[in-house]
Amino acid sequence: MNIVFATAEVSPIAKTGGLGDVCGSLPKVMAKLGHDVAIFMPLHRQARDWFERTGAPIEEAIPTTQILWANWAAEASYFRSELPGTDIPLYLVANEHFFNREQIYAPRADGYDDGIERFAFFCRAIIRACELLGITPDILHAHDWHTALLPLYLSSGLRGGPTFAATRSVYTIHNLNYQGIGRAAQFAALGLHGRYWSPDALEHFGEVNLMKGGIIFADQVTTVSPNYAHEIQTPARGAGLDGVLRSLSFKLTGIINGIDIEEWNPEDDPNLASTYSDERLTGKALSKRALLREAKLRFRGKTPLVCFISRLVDQKGVDLLIPALSHMLRAGAQAVVLGSGESRYEDALSRVGEEQGDRCRVWIGFDNALSHRIYAGSDMLLMPSIYEPCGLNQMYALRYGTLPVVRLTGGLVDTVIPFDGTNADEATGFGFMTASPQDLFIATWVGMLNYRDASVWKRLQANGMSRDFSWDRSAIEYDAVYRRALA
Ligand code: ADP
Ligand code: GLC
Repeated sequence: MNIVFATAEVSPIAKTGGLGDVCGSLPKVMAKLGHDVAIFMPLHRQARDWFERTGAPIEEAIPTTQILWANWAAEASYFRSELPGTDIPLYLVANEHFFNREQIYAPRADGYDDGIERFAFFCRAIIRACELLGITPDILHAHDWHTALLPLYLSSGLRGGPTFAATRSVYTIHNLNYQGIGRAAQFAALGLHGRYWSPDALEHFGEVNLMKGGIIFADQVTTVSPNYAHEIQTPARGAGLDGVLRSLSFKLTGIINGIDIEEWNPEDDPNLASTYSDERLTGKALSKRALLREAKLRFRGKTPLVCFISRLVDQKGVDLLIPALSHMLRAGAQAVVLGSGESRYEDALSRVGEEQGDRCRVWIGFDNALSHRIYAGSDMLLMPSIYEPCGLNQMYALRYGTLPVVRLTGGLVDTVIPFDGTNADEATGFGFMTASPQDLFIATWVGMLNYRDASVWKRLQANGMSRDFSWDRSAIEYDAVYRRALA
């Protein structure tokens, strides 16, 4: 099969979260299954910096082209590289005005949020590139709201031309709460026939909703865990689209994300001073000491080190974390936090870091190498998510022998088995249900109590470290979805 991935993020080139990780690793396994894969992403400033920093080869793919759509014209420059460590073609779409921004999802310099326009441009530029490069995809795999327009464009006439005559679309929801919502007036910027301005298409309560359109027009829809696929069909977690998803559940599949087990491998992680395995955990103890040094925290024997690594947004349960953290520190834990996002959370967490500097270190920022050292050096990872489509952090933590404390929602239910005192043969972490700081604290405290029992702790660590989170199984499920789309 000829598969084209269309995504706003690809790790390690430009990422803000798990979307980047998935689009940086799923293409590799699809290629391993024998498919021809190509990836399209915008040349964000972050991506440009990455190429400059690493010196990875990048060349012009096609001469700069005018993209015409609706009443717009904008220039697309196309660069070609390869997904790092593979020979999978990676096409980067450049446009100074749309993509050369400090942050990947920043609004325009004057504050206007032109997300709808710039990602409409990105989708039109992908279409034009396929035509010019002679790529005739069997599957166009779009991810999240940024590329949700592709299934619509496909169904609105593109299949009449030779490039896309046989193309089917698969649309993956990584996070239903970011829908690509715009004002009614922005519909005109999409270049779609007026019939798409309808509740059966892009219109949602008087606004443009790209996610809704993607769901309706894709041949197959997936989301990133079976439990989340179920949750988003309920009013509580459907973010206003549960009705649409229920009525189209026949084409919705939940497939758990895998992780890139080469990038995330404690036995061979270039970011760690001491590597380790589940049979020889000395390197983990050394990683903890190194991390404490880096965090300027004193090493204290028998003291658990908890960590939190996240985008700082309400989804991640930062409102539960902040009050619970003080209680954890008082109960004897040490903590390290790495995150960036909303300034109210950055400020509040920085304050905890300042006030409790002898027990807690807070890093505000985005630092992939540091995140590896934190997963390796910590004893527990906190993930009190309000909702979590899949979550990758808990899988990285498990692989690094760091026990996750999770709120039992979304993909966290599918990936963590909470310890209940009787299931040491299979448990991999700790869990709680109610989204309250108290329950987060209690679950962490249960973890802290068990930490004192080295034999139990070792068993739980071994259970997590031996779990298979590779993409192999999920890749086969994606393959089946692609076949259903083509059928
Ligand atoms: P989401 O995509 O909702 O943010 P995931 O758990 O799927 O959540 O993926 C988060 C990814 O982003 C992980 O790879 C995690 O390590 C990374 N990450 C989040 N915040 C930071 C940060 N401040 N610095 C480095 N990596 C981060
Ligand atoms: C989203 C979700 C996260 C998921 C990631 C990759 O960002 O919030 O749960 O793991 O996408 O699919």
